[in-house]
Amino acid sequence: MTEKELLFDKAKKDSINSYSPYSHYIVSASILHKDGTIISGQNIENASYGLTMCAERIALFKSRSMGYKNDDIVSLLIYTPIKDSKPYPCGACRQVMVELMNMDSTIYIANDDLIEEHKVSDFMPFSWELKQ
Ligand code: THU
Repeated sequence: MTEKELLFDKAKKDSINSYSPYSHYIVSASILHKDGTIISGQNIENASYGLTMCAERIALFKSRSMGYKNDDIVSLLIYTPIKDSKPYPCGACRQVMVELMNMDSTIYIANDDLIEEHKVSDFMPFSWELKQ
């Protein structure tokens, strides 16, 4: 299987772990690391809506808290089973991607009918960063 297929299968399989009783919009993100490890995260909602956390941020925070660094990440795939929907990352997730991934790492956007391929830099061409 290709990198893309492995990531797609993991995100799709784990999409059952999305907790989205309010929006009913399921998102699942998977990350491939250079050591071959693939992890995933799903959107987790809350009755206090603003506390909801996006799937790709959960996946990136999981990766980081497992000890992985920017250079260890090969690619991230964002999947939704919602027909004809392309799960492009929200603004907050883009800012986190810039911090925890390299700008030339691959981002796949997927649903059951398509997989688009992009780079982190495509989503955040002029990003905020502190130079100290
Ligand atoms: N969502 C994500 O998981 N990722 C994004 O980049 C944008 C939105 C989730 C949050 C919420 O549970 C649902 O999609 C609807 O907004």
